[in-house]
Amino acid sequence: MAYNPLIKLAQEEAEKGELPEYEGDVDLSQYDTVFIGGPVWWGTYPQVMFTFFKKHRDDMKGKIVIPFTTHEGSGLANCVDDVKKAFPGANVMKGFSIYGHEVRTERAKVEKWLKGVEN
Ligand SMILES: Cc1cc2nc3c(=O)[nH]c(=O)nc-3n(C[C@H](O)[C@H](O)[C@H](O)COP(=O)(O)O)c2cc1C
Repeated sequence: MAYNPLIKLAQEEAEKGELPEYEGDVDLSQYDTVFIGGPVWWGTYPQVMFTFFKKHRDDMKGKIVIPFTTHEGSGLANCVDDVKKAFPGANVMKGFSIYGHEVRTERAKVEKWLKGVEN
């Protein structure tokens, strides 16, 4: 899909709070810690991720959840708050954000973040 129609579609989805279906799924029961990451679209994660959040709301109870984003200026935007709302029983940690255009060139930033997460 061309970029501009995608942006418009994503805006409509966000405004309407649509929950688009996705294919496949994960079994979260074997994990204590779950990283949740994606791009910032219109101030939060893409709506399809909210479909995942809704499906797994209860699975995340008691787990550590670590949100991260790629963005082009909004940083974490509303993502951490939205993850906290989506998983009331989870221990949601401080988030990490990185510019989308830095993802391939700023490996050190990601490594520094992950070192901090380990400790
Ligand atoms: C539909 C759409 C909405 C976006 N909204 C935002 C936004 O609100 N804030 C922001 O910083 N970046 C926004 N962006 C830029 C994306 O966050 C950026 O392209 C992405 O993090 C880079 O990953 P990608 O290569 O998967 O697109 C938006 C991009 C798209 C396609």
